[in-house]
Amino acid sequence: MANSAISNTAAFQIFAFLILVCTEHSIAGEIRYSIPEEMEEGAFVGNVAQDLGLEIQQLYDRNFMLTSDDGVDYINIELQRGILSIAKKIDREQICGQETACTISFKIILENPLAVYRGEVEILDVNDNTPTFSEGTIALQIAESMAPGVGFPLESAQDQDVGINAVAAYTISSSDYFRLKTQTSDDGVIAVELLLEKSLDREQKSSLRLVLTAIDGGIPQRSGTTQILITVMDNNDNPPVFDHKIYRSSLRENAPLGSLVVTVKANDLDDGPNADLTYSFSKLTSPTLREMFSCDPYSGEIRTNRMLDFEKSTSYSLHLQAVDHGSPAITGHSQILVKIIDVNDNAPEIKVTSTTCKIMETVLPGTLITLVNVIDRDSGENGQINCEVSRSIPFKLQTSSSNHYELITSEELDRESVPEYEVVLVAWDFGSPSLSTNKTIQIVITDVNDNAPLFSEPSYNMYLTENNAPGTSIFAITATDLDMDQNSYVSYSLLWNNIQDTRISSFLSINALNGTIYALRSFDYEKLKTFQIHVQARDAGVPPLSSSAAVNVIILDQNDNAPVIVSPSAQSGSASAESLPQSADQGYFVTKIIATDADSGQNARLFYQVHHSTDPTLFNIEQNSGEIRTARRIFESDTSMQTLVILVTDNGQPRLSSTVTIHISFQENVTERITERNNLVSNSEYDSNLHLYLIVVFGCTSLLFLVTIILLIGIKCKQEGTVTQDHNSSSCCYRLGGSNDVLDRRYGTEETLRYPGTGRIVRVGETPHYSVCLSPESAKSDFLFLKPCGRPTSQP
Ligand SMILES: *[C@@H]1O[C@H](CO)[C@@H](O)[C@H](O)[C@H]1NC(C)=O
Ligand SMILES: *[C@@H]1O[C@H](CO)[C@@H](O)[C@H](O)[C@H]1NC(C)=O
Repeated sequence: MANSAISNTAAFQIFAFLILVCTEHSIAGEIRYSIPEEMEEGAFVGNVAQDLGLEIQQLYDRNFMLTSDDGVDYINIELQRGILSIAKKIDREQICGQETACTISFKIILENPLAVYRGEVEILDVNDNTPTFSEGTIALQIAESMAPGVGFPLESAQDQDVGINAVAAYTISSSDYFRLKTQTSDDGVIAVELLLEKSLDREQKSSLRLVLTAIDGGIPQRSGTTQILITVMDNNDNPPVFDHKIYRSSLRENAPLGSLVVTVKANDLDDGPNADLTYSFSKLTSPTLREMFSCDPYSGEIRTNRMLDFEKSTSYSLHLQAVDHGSPAITGHSQILVKIIDVNDNAPEIKVTSTTCKIMETVLPGTLITLVNVIDRDSGENGQINCEVSRSIPFKLQTSSSNHYELITSEELDRESVPEYEVVLVAWDFGSPSLSTNKTIQIVITDVNDNAPLFSEPSYNMYLTENNAPGTSIFAITATDLDMDQNSYVSYSLLWNNIQDTRISSFLSINALNGTIYALRSFDYEKLKTFQIHVQARDAGVPPLSSSAAVNVIILDQNDNAPVIVSPSAQSGSASAESLPQSADQGYFVTKIIATDADSGQNARLFYQVHHSTDPTLFNIEQNSGEIRTARRIFESDTSMQTLVILVTDNGQPRLSSTVTIHISFQENVTERITERNNLVSNSEYDSNLHLYLIVVFGCTSLLFLVTIILLIGIKCKQEGTVTQDHNSSSCCYRLGGSNDVLDRRYGTEETLRYPGTGRIVRVGETPHYSVCLSPESAKSDFLFLKPCGRPTSQP
């Protein structure tokens, strides 16, 4: 500024001079100077003496004096030359402020004669001040919604200078949005306004910085600037926008609770609360889904809230919204597609129409038992299933359609061997690891009457001692039936038959319920020795099944017959008479006692003994044969009439006996009588010869007879064709004990019994000892007879 002031001085001197010339002519007694401000100290203002027409010499004499009201300090007068100069640098603005005309008035006083000259120094403005703004930055806040055309008054710039040196114009840095509008008022003050030309967008430009320049009109021009800082106030004019329109996510169905599905993020171009977002599910998301998933309002994390299940839903669609906090708030939308990945978490399920089944044992292989449906709620390989019957049992699965099976029988069934099955169905899927499940089906095989009652043996031997009490139970026969319940209830009956032309029902009866056989009458071994009956067992099934067994009833002998003495006959009273010669020697055969016993075996084995005699020394009897012989010679002294009591006992239990009394008389002359008795009695030699002869004759006859019988039976068998050995055709072809066989039997050894119809050989214990011989009659009738095969007891 100092420099410019100095450089300006020359120009203003010329200017001042012109005014001075002008002033000299217009104002007498009054002088006026114009000087620019800011002149250096001592600078020439005006030649007062010259201008007033005063002599230099007078000045001093007339006490030339300068007085000033106010500007004394600024100007000075040089007495020697009468020149007015600047005493002190003048700042117009300091003296006059904004006054347009600024003068410093002074008086020049001369004495001798007193003369007062008024003078003025006009201070001319020099553009030495720059327009200034009171603040370095003007801050403006303008809402982005503001409509174009709105003006924002700005503070004017101040310039100390006046006139043209004062602020003359404003400019602003170029901007798309603003321009300046100025209006000069009457007092010359320029009002400046910022005019919005185009709507602001905070999102594009959140603030603007403009430079406002004020220019004055001086030469050279001076200018001052200030910053205008425009902050664009946000308006909630932008919606929140999600990163993706659709978020895609996938989750395994066994993901634990709280698993992160996806984190959503939305952006809002607005600012402040207008950009503060809250996330939530929108109304498009059903309440169920809102329970299944959670949404963090601030972080945007979507997490599972429930366990997922691929089998319930394979995907979910969630609608989301982000709401800003503006007023009014704006909402942005997005969607999440959650795909559920299947995990093999479901074992196959086996469904059967019923878990317990009943089938008849007679069903054919391939019979449908039940329908089986297998499902697996997984998908893909996890849901592919195989199903089988676990064990090897007579059942199998047959595929009817995918995952539908039929359980059928694969073999024939038999309730009697396996009454019940547990069919375990196993199903497994192809997932990894594979899951399996099983189901048990109870199959009850129901009974069908396919088994007849079964006797433990095809035939039985039933021993019954004769003389039994009528009504006693003699035997129990049981048959078992493998079937069950009604099909196994067995009832017994005797098959129709005759025994010796008598209905069997008069002999025996059977308890239908338990097969106990009762004798209805007393049997007599001597009349009936054995017979065969057939017992039928029948079950209660529909239709009933039956079977029969043969029962050989064998009557056992009892010692119920006492020996009967056949010879000598005792018709005349209780004794028989014998006579023998006086001369009979020792061992003389007197007689032979012949006795029979209707019983058999030991019961019929007879022993002879002398029970009582007149002279015990005279006779003895052969114990087995019953032959009575003399024990010694007969003496004269012996009583001529001897009495013998012979006791015949059998070997039964208890022993039974009979006695015979024989009167023996001695005679002197017996020659004639010997001849007479020739046939009956002989000496022992003759006697034994006769015996042998008789035995041979008897044996031959018997043999001949038996051979004839055998031939006859053989012919009969041939006529009947092939003989079936069933129970009803027991007429022939059994082993026939030959008579030799019978004759050769000996006492005291174990005997073998052969029973017709059985082919069995029964060992009979020690007592009673007898053998069963087939009598010829048995070939013709249905009855068999037991015949004692002891030693022949009779002698011809
Ligand atoms: C059937 O399943 C049970 C348990 O579910 C298991 O203990 C058993 O071993 C399975 N049986 C078979 C035959 O697979
Ligand atoms: C058979 O039944 C009868 C009559 O109920 C009974 O007396 C008898 O003891 C039974 N027999 C058997 C072997 O159970």
